[in-house]
Amino acid sequence: MRPKSCQSFSMLFFTCVLIAAALPGSTLLAQDDEEQEMTPAELGDDYMPEYSRRGADGCVRCHGGDEDSAHLNQVFEGPHGVSADGRTPFGEGQTQCEACHGPGGDHTARVGSGEQRIPMPAFGPNAIWSETKQNGICMSCHVDQKHGFWEGGTHQVAEVGCADCHESHVRRDPMTMATSQNDGCLSCHIETRAQVNRAHSHPIRHGEMACTSCHEPHGAPNDAMLTQPTLNQSCFECHAEVRGPHLWEHAPVTENCSNCHQPHGSMHPGMLTQRAPLLCQSCHSRVGHAGIGRSANDLPSGSPSVFLLSGSCTSCHSQVHGSNHPSGSLLLR
Ligand code: HEC
Ligand code: HEC
Ligand code: HEC
Ligand code: HEC
Ligand code: HEC
Ligand code: HEC
Ligand code: HEC
Ligand code: HEC
Ligand code: HEC
Ligand code: HEC
Repeated sequence: MRPKSCQSFSMLFFTCVLIAAALPGSTLLAQDDEEQEMTPAELGDDYMPEYSRRGADGCVRCHGGDEDSAHLNQVFEGPHGVSADGRTPFGEGQTQCEACHGPGGDHTARVGSGEQRIPMPAFGPNAIWSETKQNGICMSCHVDQKHGFWEGGTHQVAEVGCADCHESHVRRDPMTMATSQNDGCLSCHIETRAQVNRAHSHPIRHGEMACTSCHEPHGAPNDAMLTQPTLNQSCFECHAEVRGPHLWEHAPVTENCSNCHQPHGSMHPGMLTQRAPLLCQSCHSRVGHAGIGRSANDLPSGSPSVFLLSGSCTSCHSQVHGSNHPSGSLLLR
């Protein structure tokens, strides 16, 4: 850095000249040039121009007037446009559009013919700031408990930004409504989309249930960002009748509902991962009683057994989630 005092004509003039002369002059010039030539894009997160002078009034002069960008004005009708609420971007003392988009001094400046307009720092197709810094803008106002697990959550790690899910230029953010939220999530989660469209599924595709019935999209310290510490606890939120403790537990149920159920949806009735008896036989021995067949032809000759002839194990072992009957140890009643 060139000593500051050199910039003003002062008593130290000669001293400065001496110092400057003592240093290799080319270095000083090169440093100056570099600073001047750093483009906003190169500065990245360090890019910090002035705020515009006229705020939103200046922006809407060019944006929001024509038909194409009329939707931009919806920001005034949504939760962020409540000017009586000092916490919103349009509240008193806030920087309006620039509270989200970053300082727009350069962007609003006059542009010579043939020159490119400098993009806004944040939330545009050519945004200068990184995703993390852009998320930081939203976080600066939304620092409540619910977002305490954002850092390290799967979405943050996978670089999904706040604005990948949330829309700001709308009256009502689609993510906050079950019917439109699911479509938003499923636009990225193709595999889950296939699952919820299967014949036997949670009523997600009808919008009666939302992904957030079970998941915390802002991150949670639980597997699969579930809202509850364990998978089973997530299910008990709604299926309390399955919750134990039972006199006679069925080990795989206490362990994990997804041993037998696909939580989003499956081809099999009851959202089972497989049909009974195959499901049961994936753990229970095929020899002896725990049967193998559905008809007499399937039976080993000379051992007709009523157990094996019934279509499904659950027609006898009906208490598959556990039994409270004194003699229910075999989950028969
Ligand atoms: C003098 C006219 C003018 C003013 C004033 C203006 N803009 Fe723009 N803005 C433009 C034009 C033109 C584009 C399209 C640039 C392009 O496509 O390269 C644009 C693009 C944008 C974009 C998206 C694309 C990008 O490059 O980031 C955002 C966001 C934006 N402006 C926000 C604002 C905000 C916020 C303000 C007020 C602080 C503002 N603009 C003021 C003319 C203006
Ligand atoms: C609450 C934060 C927020 C506020 C306030 C806000 N924006 Fe935006 N804006 C965004 C986000 C996020 C995007 C990215 C696209 C989206 O989510 O709609 C965006 C996109 C844009 C775009 C480019 C994309 C497009 O849809 O054309 C323009 C231009 C723009 N905003 C201008 C403005 C202007 C002008 C204002 C003030 C009147 C403003 N914004 C206020 C968050 C905000
Ligand atoms: C200047 C502060 C500020 C900034 C910046 C800001 N918000 Fe907000 N936001 C608010 C306030 C205040 C509310 C209304 C909260 C309430 O009513 O309790 C709100 C509401 C919301 C809501 C609830 C919407 C609804 O329909 O209920 C969402 C989602 C949201 N903001 C997302 C964002 C995102 C994403 C960004 C970044 C693009 C952002 N906000 C930037 C202050 C801000
Ligand atoms: C994967 C999608 C997704 C991402 C990424 C995301 N959100 Fe959300 N957000 C949601 C959903 C869904 C809701 C609605 C929650 C509900 O209805 O229970 C929501 C609700 C909100 C709300 C409303 C109040 C609340 O806490 O419920 C705010 C504010 C908010 N998000 C801010 C943010 C901010 C800030 C970021 C970035 C750090 C962010 N969101 C990232 C999906 C997302
Ligand atoms: C009934 C509760 C429930 C609902 C509703 C739900 N999920 Fe899940 N989801 C789960 C459980 C439980 C897991 C963990 C599965 C496991 O570990 O076996 C999971 C796992 C996931 C995974 C991780 C990959 C995988 O399949 O294991 C994604 C992605 C996912 N869910 C997305 C979604 C989306 C998107 C929606 C909304 C359309 C949604 N989920 C609705 C319970 C649910
Ligand atoms: C912009 C794309 C995008 C959107 C929108 C999105 N996600 Fe994700 N989600 C991802 C990515 C990327 C991952 C990490 C890789 C993976 O598991 O597929 C992920 C992972 C997940 C996981 C697995 C978490 C884990 O720890 O295993 C769940 C659950 C999930 N998302 C739920 C949701 C829900 C609920 C919504 C809507 C509120 C949503 N996602 C919206 C991109 C998205
Ligand atoms: C937010 C509430 C809610 C949560 C949480 C929930 N479910 Fe459900 N579940 C439902 C509703 C609603 C139905 C549909 C009931 C109906 O159609 O009568 C259902 C139906 C089912 C069915 C029967 C499906 C059929 O085709 O008969 C199974 C099995 C099931 N849920 C398992 C689970 C599992 C496993 C979990 C945990 C991963 C879980 N549920 C979490 C609400 C919930
Ligand atoms: C050992 C396999 C297995 C496990 C583990 C299991 N289930 Fe089931 N579940 C079944 C079978 C079999 C059915 C009957 C399906 C049918 O109707 O054809 C069923 C049916 C259901 C139903 C539909 C309503 C009913 O009671 O018939 C719900 C809800 C359900 N299970 C929830 C759960 C929950 C919650 C858990 C975890 C605590 C769980 N299940 C664990 C095998 C299992
Ligand atoms: C994920 C593995 C698994 C699946 C799938 C499974 N079970 Fe079990 N089951 C077990 C375990 C482990 C025990 C406990 C065995 C013990 O205590 O010796 C058990 C115990 C039982 C018992 C009590 C037997 C005894 O000796 O105490 C019956 C009856 C039973 N299961 C029936 C079923 C039926 C019917 C199905 C299909 C709907 C099924 N099981 C699916 C693992 C499984
Ligand atoms: C017709 C009714 C019936 C059907 C169908 C049935 N069971 Fe049983 N199961 C019983 C009875 C009764 C007992 C106790 C008598 C015994 O031990 O033979 C029993 C005992 C058991 C036991 C514990 C005793 C042992 O063998 O260790 C298991 C495990 C079991 N059944 C699993 C299954 C499975 C898996 C299926 C489906 C392939 C099935 N059962 C089909 C009635 C049935």
